[in-house]
Amino acid sequence: MDVMNLITRDRRVSWHPFTQEAQAPPPVPIVAGRGAWLIGADGREYLDLISSWWVTLHGHAHPEIARAIAKQAETLEQVIFAGFTHEPAVRLAEELLARLPGLSRVFYADDGSTAVEAALKMACQFHLNRGHRRHRFAAFEGGYHGDTAGAMSAGRSTGFFDAFESMLFQVDRLPYPATWEGDDEVEGRDSACLQALDDYLAEHGADCAALLAEPLVQGASGMRMSRPVFLRRVMERCRRAGVLFIADEVMTGFGRTGTLFACEQAGLTPDLICLSKGLTGGFLPLSAVVAREEIYQAFLGDSFHTAFAHGHSFTANPLGCAAALASLELLRQNDSLRRVGEIEALHRRWLAELAGFPGVLRPRVRGAIAAFDLRDPNPGYHAAVGPKLRAFFLERGLVVRPLGETVYLSPPFCITDADLHRAWEAMAEAAQRFGG
Ligand SMILES: Cc1ncc(COP(=O)(O)O)c(C=O)c1O
Repeated sequence: MDVMNLITRDRRVSWHPFTQEAQAPPPVPIVAGRGAWLIGADGREYLDLISSWWVTLHGHAHPEIARAIAKQAETLEQVIFAGFTHEPAVRLAEELLARLPGLSRVFYADDGSTAVEAALKMACQFHLNRGHRRHRFAAFEGGYHGDTAGAMSAGRSTGFFDAFESMLFQVDRLPYPATWEGDDEVEGRDSACLQALDDYLAEHGADCAALLAEPLVQGASGMRMSRPVFLRRVMERCRRAGVLFIADEVMTGFGRTGTLFACEQAGLTPDLICLSKGLTGGFLPLSAVVAREEIYQAFLGDSFHTAFAHGHSFTANPLGCAAALASLELLRQNDSLRRVGEIEALHRRWLAELAGFPGVLRPRVRGAIAAFDLRDPNPGYHAAVGPKLRAFFLERGLVVRPLGETVYLSPPFCITDADLHRAWEAMAEAAQRFGG
């Protein structure tokens, strides 16, 4: 393949996401993927340490998932899901519900953003159908939920969406107790955040439809972690106030945090849970909102007015469902949660070493996700060190996409120990070189 020609053609016709096209280095042409590796058009190999934006679980081009999609494509590639149904969608719903005790209805959407959008609308209409107009929503400072209007409204505090301010609706912002290994002030910070939530619920709880949150790890705002006990207390308070708790597990779902779903670590069931990314093992865009029965029941009635008037052309696409079923089976067969535990242990060993570097701040780990911040005079998503780090890693054949001065690893679960050590060696080198 003519690599330079592909880049030139790309530059002529493509528009890449979250990219300043006037400044970005040329995109890297990729022709194949295998396991945790991506293969460049020039034959170079790149270790995918971010699971291609947190989607890949079992490895790239995994033959079992590829086969399941191909088989499904030869039988039924797509059918409208209003008024029709099909085996892969029903079976996937059954399989998801078997893994989400306390939840009983699966609503399919396309991707993380549209799942969040659907969940927000469900929460709004749930209260309305029961005779209460609740016009407020709440979300945590630093939460990111996607790029559609509702998701942006909830994720406004990330600062990604300033240009769209006029398109967004009000979402009340609550403080979030980001914590890390060895953080001896976490108790106090948790308590202050819970007090702020209590105050908020006392004042506005009766008007608040739902609290939307990324459980345990806020991804895009810098892998900001919080404790399961904090999550549990938040969920308890929402339940008491009649405010729906929407768990955005688009990033944390399917083993990323060490349990199949992050909410399991709080020991409570959310009212609605949004799933995507790892749902199909990272093969196809598909998402689901899984709801408690009480919520579903509120939409039943004798007129269309109480029905959920929401859907997408590709709702419950059979290919996506087939991929998801194959991925769930691989999670079981591969004992992936055990593997995530091993990855976490390896992360911990290296983080303990890096924690001794003067430029490394706030080392943190949860399941397959490890992160730390580099000491930087101008921290934030636009920190100048970000692009330099990305280039540093790419030169070494490592796909790492720092979030400002936050460096993190969130590899596919199939990564080998040897490859992970190699990644951490580069992390250590970067921390010494760029850590101020
Ligand atoms: C927690 C969370 N929610 C929602 C989204 C949006 O998902 P998508 O990019 O598939 O629309 C993301 C994407 O990174 C996410 O991390």
